[in-house]
Amino acid sequence: MNPVLEHILTTRSVSDGQVAVPLADNISREEGEFLAKIIRDVKPRTSVEIGLGYGVSTLYICDALVANGLPARHIVMDPFQSTRYRSIGLRNITQAGYSRLIEFHEEPSEFQLPRLNAEGLSVEFALVDGWHSFDQVMVEFYYINRLLRVGGVVAFDDANRRNINRVIRHALTYPAYEVYDARRGQGSGLTWAGVVRQAMRRFPRAEQIFREDLLYRDWDLGVFATFVALRKVAEDNLSERWDPT
Ligand SMILES: C[S@@+](CC[C@H](N)C(=O)[O-])C[C@H]1O[C@@H](n2cnc3c(N)ncnc32)[C@H](O)[C@@H]1O
Repeated sequence: MNPVLEHILTTRSVSDGQVAVPLADNISREEGEFLAKIIRDVKPRTSVEIGLGYGVSTLYICDALVANGLPARHIVMDPFQSTRYRSIGLRNITQAGYSRLIEFHEEPSEFQLPRLNAEGLSVEFALVDGWHSFDQVMVEFYYINRLLRVGGVVAFDDANRRNINRVIRHALTYPAYEVYDARRGQGSGLTWAGVVRQAMRRFPRAEQIFREDLLYRDWDLGVFATFVALRKVAEDNLSERWDPT
């Protein structure tokens, strides 16, 4: 692990060069290792990340990109880097020696992602960890879906929050997406409720009778997790009449 990242995680503090502040808003060590595993697996040449903060997830991504030993361009966006985060995320990246990999935009995702689309960019990996409202994450997924190549992966942090979970469930209604991997939460596997759901799913025309979220809980879909990655498995050719319900 890069010594700058190790130091940040061990001391749980970051600095702007003058004042130290407590580390906050970052992904955990376990999530970072999960993220690095995806990057080593997918080997993206171009990737995007929403939400730099103090730069912990970006450092994990850069570590894995360097380990891949391939040319890589990682595009990061965050409108509050120089204000709320006092440019500490960017400072950490420079200190870790990763500036050459990073293209940073101090812009909100809702402006930057459409711009990247208009430029004709395509990516093999995207991390969503910005503003966590449902409509924000839905807009981000909309543009990431257009950027992502078939075979590419989109990962969502805080996937156990209802707002993010709703977007993930929506994405999984697209024929073009399937669960790639998930960092699972604590859980005991099949419960009595799970047995009942399995029985309900065996009813003739069950999907017309019961609500989809009653038939399939997060556990059944493989998204009972704090961090979920979806893979794009086909071109997204949905017609304007397509309706998942
Ligand atoms: C949870 S923090 C990201 C932490 C980072 N991924 C890490 O592991 O250290 C969320 C970040 O999203 C940023 N953010 C908020 N609104 C945003 C937007 N509209 N577009 C992009 N980033 C946004 C915030 O400034 C903040 O840095």
